[in-house]
Amino acid sequence: MRETYAAPLPGMNLGEMSGKLIVIEGTDGVGRSTQIRMLRPWLEQQGRAVLDTAIKRSELAGKGIQQAKEGHTLGRITLSLFYATDFADRLEHEIVPALRAGFVVLTDRYIYSLMARAIVRGADPRWIRNAYGFALKPDATFYLRIGVDDLIPRVVFSRGFDYWESGMDIHPSEDMYDSFRKYQTELLTEFERLAKEYSFEVIDATPDPRTVFEHLRAGVARVLSGEPREPLFSVSAPVPDPEIAPKKVLEMPGPAKSAGPPGEEAAPSVHPLARAAEGDAKK
Ligand SMILES: Nc1ncnc2c1ncn2[C@@H]1O[C@H](COP(=O)(O)OP(=O)(O)O)[C@@H](O)[C@H]1O
Ligand SMILES: [Mg+2]
Repeated sequence: MRETYAAPLPGMNLGEMSGKLIVIEGTDGVGRSTQIRMLRPWLEQQGRAVLDTAIKRSELAGKGIQQAKEGHTLGRITLSLFYATDFADRLEHEIVPALRAGFVVLTDRYIYSLMARAIVRGADPRWIRNAYGFALKPDATFYLRIGVDDLIPRVVFSRGFDYWESGMDIHPSEDMYDSFRKYQTELLTEFERLAKEYSFEVIDATPDPRTVFEHLRAGVARVLSGEPREPLFSVSAPVPDPEIAPKKVLEMPGPAKSAGPPGEEAAPSVHPLARAAEGDAKK
């Protein structure tokens, strides 16, 4: 039986959804579309039926959001509710029917991006979580993690800065570059919070697309095989017999001894993925 975060949409039967709901999350320009373009054919080659869906693609609200954004006149709450409408429509008319038919549903962003955007724009975090309480809990959420310094060249050398992706609606007096940096930094901070709360599987998005894809593919393969999730890196367990115990603990990136005391940030030398794994291991 599928679960939702709170009450499901009225009339929605949560049984008989044998497909898998796989979320690809990450900020603007991180490379979600690039990854989905590789994931889809890889899944189809294995004989899987795939639905890919993304924000603003609903029949009901997709065009309306686009038009409203072109006018740059949407209020913050109305923008959030417009996105929630788009999501509810796709959930009911695309995602749930595809899951019932046994599809792998690949979704380019999910409620988390919508929450992060709303919170950065001042929405009450509890309100926005409640607003999306009807969302299905996905089988996995892969978060493509990047820092703002690596993100900027990726955006500059592809489509350039966009009014909304630069958060110009909330930093109108800044130039677009400064606004992009500020807004994306705020969004990335919010994503890190959501990553912990909703147990995202973190993928380092800084390497070349192929390398990112290899990690993502391994994660998706695991979800489809039904294997349980494990931390991305684990430290070898201590050897019980002191006679055969190695003198030196194997140096591996992971929840390392170099990390500070509990509750403190890990030392900068620890690989970011290892830090994510440490968070996972505590869950
Ligand atoms: N891992 C990567 N390394 C370098 N550039 C990348 C990588 N992934 C995507 N890109 C490039 O970054 C730009 C944005 O990628 P895109 O997939 O459209 O992002 P998104 O869908 O997340 O907005 C494109 O020009 C793409 O070729
Ligand atoms: Mg895209």
